[in-house]
Amino acid sequence: MKILVVGGGGREHAVIRKLKENPKAETVYALPGNGGIAADAVCVNIKAVDIPGIVRFAKENSIDYAVVTPDDPLVLGCVDALEAEGIPCFGPRADAAIIEGSKIFSKRLMQKYGIPTAACEVFEDMEPALEYLKTAPLPAVVKADGLALGKGVIIAETREEAEDAVRGMMQDLKFGKSGSRILIEEFLTGPEVSVLSFTDGRVIKPMVSSMDHKRAGDGDTGLNTGGMGTIAPNPYYTEEVAERCMKEIFLPTVAAMNAEGRTFKGCLYFGLMITEKGPKVIEYNCRFGDPETQVVLPLLKSDLLEIMLAVTEERLDEVPVVFADGAACCVIMASEGYPLAYGKGYPITVPEDLRDKVYVAGAAEKDGRLVTSGGRVLGVTETADSLKEAVDRAYEDAARIHFDNAFYRKDIGKRGLAAINK
Ligand code: AMP
Ligand code: GLY
Repeated sequence: MKILVVGGGGREHAVIRKLKENPKAETVYALPGNGGIAADAVCVNIKAVDIPGIVRFAKENSIDYAVVTPDDPLVLGCVDALEAEGIPCFGPRADAAIIEGSKIFSKRLMQKYGIPTAACEVFEDMEPALEYLKTAPLPAVVKADGLALGKGVIIAETREEAEDAVRGMMQDLKFGKSGSRILIEEFLTGPEVSVLSFTDGRVIKPMVSSMDHKRAGDGDTGLNTGGMGTIAPNPYYTEEVAERCMKEIFLPTVAAMNAEGRTFKGCLYFGLMITEKGPKVIEYNCRFGDPETQVVLPLLKSDLLEIMLAVTEERLDEVPVVFADGAACCVIMASEGYPLAYGKGYPITVPEDLRDKVYVAGAAEKDGRLVTSGGRVLGVTETADSLKEAVDRAYEDAARIHFDNAFYRKDIGKRGLAAINK
């Protein structure tokens, strides 16, 4: 089979490695991929948002199957466009990807179908939003409706901060058009859990749970990032919580999307908060998480390609989705300065024995060498029988990988380990 994977980050690197465990995956193309992915796939310099370019490439190269992983092509209708040319895909169509593409859509869906989530008000104009903030409970969570590279959420402790957030989104359009409509949400507390799942619109099979570490600094301080590390499983996701999530959130979400005529097929990501009143949805994503995928897929014992094909062909009930009993930890190595300004072009050295454990996110090939080209440069994942071992080994590995100005959090997994030992 000739398989095309749209995207070019650490997540796509993990997906590609796993797909290639199946000998049917003869040729894998990555669009655009990156300098590190080039070791595992044929990288083609077509941007993930260039839908006509992707479709043209797929047709010209007789692609048998396409896996679309990033949010923007999914929301832009990449799957619809490929399917229209007869190319089967893994990933939701645009009418279902809206579950991530519009936070107002997903909030209304949850309200309509009784799926637990934070209480919230929707605003299409700035004046009523500012008026509401005069008496709104604090902290207030201000969210841009549309995709904003994971940055469209501001937790405002004071009324001034909340007003600034609203003005920034609605007046100054800091997040572009995605902030022209906003939500102001109740602030929830509790541990956060990410659950990725496979669904074909009929059944839903959750993957092993995980925990992201979104802030740049140790102890969850500093700016929000795309994710500085992950562990799996997430110790807060007990069997009891999992059962409640299946009954109160996962199955109702699949049913709700069907009832709306927007059947979701692909990887549905639940960003959950385990509150005192039970699990609630913080956000849905219409795709694999990054860097959650880098800990979830290494624990997957079943065949990823077979699962994906079963999702596409709506026979997921026939295919096992089984995970190893152990644990995984991924430490993200970034360039100093990220998520703000950072340097690029530093040569990267990865010891030979660590190649299979490294998922490359922001690197390019230059004169035959791998050099940094992004803020988050790579992630190194270890799996082990216990979380403690996985964490220790991932840090031993990170210490052996070099590039100038590298930095990484030193406490990935610390909260998870504390929860286990409680
Ligand atoms: P999101 O982009 O929706 O994942 O939000 C980013 C982060 O903001 C989440 O991972 C949470 O830590 C936090 N967050 C979002 N919504 C809420 C809420 N209603 N209450 C508390 N924290 C929230
Ligand atoms: N790690 C969070 C996300 O992929 O949205």
